[in-house]
Amino acid sequence: MQKALVGMLGYLAPYKALFVAGQTAMLVATAAGLAFPWMVRNVFDVLFAAGTMHMLLVAIGGLAVVSVVREVANFAKNRALGHIGQRMIRDMRASVYERLLYLSLGFYDNQNSGDITSSMTNDMALLQQGLASGLTYILQQALSLIAVVFLLFGIDVVLTLILFGTLPAILIVSKRMGDRVKAISRSTQERLGYLMGILNQSVSGIAVIQAFVLENYARGFFRDENDRILEKSIENIQVSTAAGLLIGLANALFLLVVIGAGALRVTGGYLSPADLIAFILYSEMVAGPISVLSGIYIEINRATAAYQRIAAILEAPVEVANRPVELLNSVQGRVDFHDVAFTYDGERPILKDISFSLAPGETVALVGPSGAGKSTLAKLLPRFYDPDAGAILFDGVDIRELDLHVLRRQIAIVPQETYLFSMSIRDNIACGEPRASDAAIKRAARLANADDFIREQDLGYDTEVGERGARLSGGQRQRIAIARAFLKDPSILILDEATSALDTHAERQIQGALDTLMRDRATLIIAHRLSTIENADRIIVLQDGRIVATGAHAELVETCAFYADLCRNQFVQAER
Ligand SMILES: Nc1ncnc2c1ncn2[C@@H]1O[C@H](COP(=O)(O)OP(=O)(O)OP(=O)(O)O)[C@@H](O)[C@H]1O
Ligand SMILES: [Mg+2]
Repeated sequence: MQKALVGMLGYLAPYKALFVAGQTAMLVATAAGLAFPWMVRNVFDVLFAAGTMHMLLVAIGGLAVVSVVREVANFAKNRALGHIGQRMIRDMRASVYERLLYLSLGFYDNQNSGDITSSMTNDMALLQQGLASGLTYILQQALSLIAVVFLLFGIDVVLTLILFGTLPAILIVSKRMGDRVKAISRSTQERLGYLMGILNQSVSGIAVIQAFVLENYARGFFRDENDRILEKSIENIQVSTAAGLLIGLANALFLLVVIGAGALRVTGGYLSPADLIAFILYSEMVAGPISVLSGIYIEINRATAAYQRIAAILEAPVEVANRPVELLNSVQGRVDFHDVAFTYDGERPILKDISFSLAPGETVALVGPSGAGKSTLAKLLPRFYDPDAGAILFDGVDIRELDLHVLRRQIAIVPQETYLFSMSIRDNIACGEPRASDAAIKRAARLANADDFIREQDLGYDTEVGERGARLSGGQRQRIAIARAFLKDPSILILDEATSALDTHAERQIQGALDTLMRDRATLIIAHRLSTIENADRIIVLQDGRIVATGAHAELVETCAFYADLCRNQFVQAER
């Protein structure tokens, strides 16, 4: 809790000056607020004592000045502190996003994307509420409460003691009811989050729902949850209206006690009528701040919890740390794996004793059954994960000692499934090189055999591809991925071949593009096609995370029974 408060205060630091200005306005507003009842009292004092017109005008003038000062100072305070709150939230959102960009894949493996979204929306909203009231009200209400207690005692000790006698009843009622309202609205919020989860899944999985005729099932699921939310919301309304009734009655009782007991004190001659008016006005300033303060306490608690969830992202360790020691002079593009071992969870070994080299310009094919660890091995080279033992060298330098971005600029990955951003084709190709010229982009598209189909689109290179590239075919998406790799012009290429066979024409276009791309580059290719394997300089056979054989195709078919088996059962035979 304290750590979270310190963390939040860190975001306040840049706005110190504005904060001080806001709190100064707050002090002025509070002082004027406290003077207000006294100014009202003065007016009535003149009236009851039948003073002169001049005295009356002075008293009313005082009241006017105090009222205006109070309102203007409150306005200034709310403006200043409101601005600070919004800026702090903006800064926090920016740091969370910044962090998310650099967190390692290991973080995302264990994270629900819904939780990240909810941190950015719900938690930020809670934080904003907490900040708004925390910054704006805590000090003001506390100061005003303390001052009011002194003022009340100053006016009439006995009446003040009577007043505080009735206070606990009111506080207990408001606290009880407040707690119930909070509990119900929290569980309504949670259910609503769950309903949003169902909605999200239905939208992204709509094709599955329709294909498997799950509409009725989905509808029922949604309806049950929706109805449950209605139940909770109705309960919410019932409790909060009941709370309003009880709190209203308690407040009326409170006022009645003050007026009744005050009237007796006035008739007894202990108190002037004008003082009683001041007393009543001040007494209204007691219950208010107390319930506001307890409300703020709850809001701050919720904001702290929200901040802790946000801090979990901000403080998540970047497992793949970037601490460059060595520089690369001229890049050759040579890779060595030395006794590399790797696990995702620290327990189940996925890769063991992996040693092999990839010489500049060489093509190495990685083959093995599903789950053998081929994709995992390929992910270690751009340091999506770091190995648990052994080392990977790039041009003779341990990749952990190179600048991460320098390393990754040397490597292009053409994955099995291409991820396209919801942007134009041009921007999707250029994502490898943000400052790429138009000519370079078109050249890359031509080399990737993508230029033809791009020109056929309505807007050519400016065609938007839709979310995840939904408006393009699988083969077209893949050719865009290949164009990205051409534009990046890396010294090392990692290819994860698609397992499904495309039709012969598309296949040939992609194969042709890949052949050009692989020329003169060190290429690690996770191969599923016999033709790819036959063309590779060397084949590495992976089984259960271990290299079981290395060699050329013809040689391995003879010497390695496991490989011969793989060839017969798994590899896609090219149609001739
Ligand atoms: N992010 C992850 N977290 C935990 N375990 C994982 C993760 N990714 C893969 N694994 C596990 O690691 C093992 C190797 O997976 P990998 O994706 O490297 O296999 P593969 O050889 O590429 O298989 P395929 O040919 O089916 O693509 C599998 O048993 C898989 O369950
Ligand atoms: Mg794989």
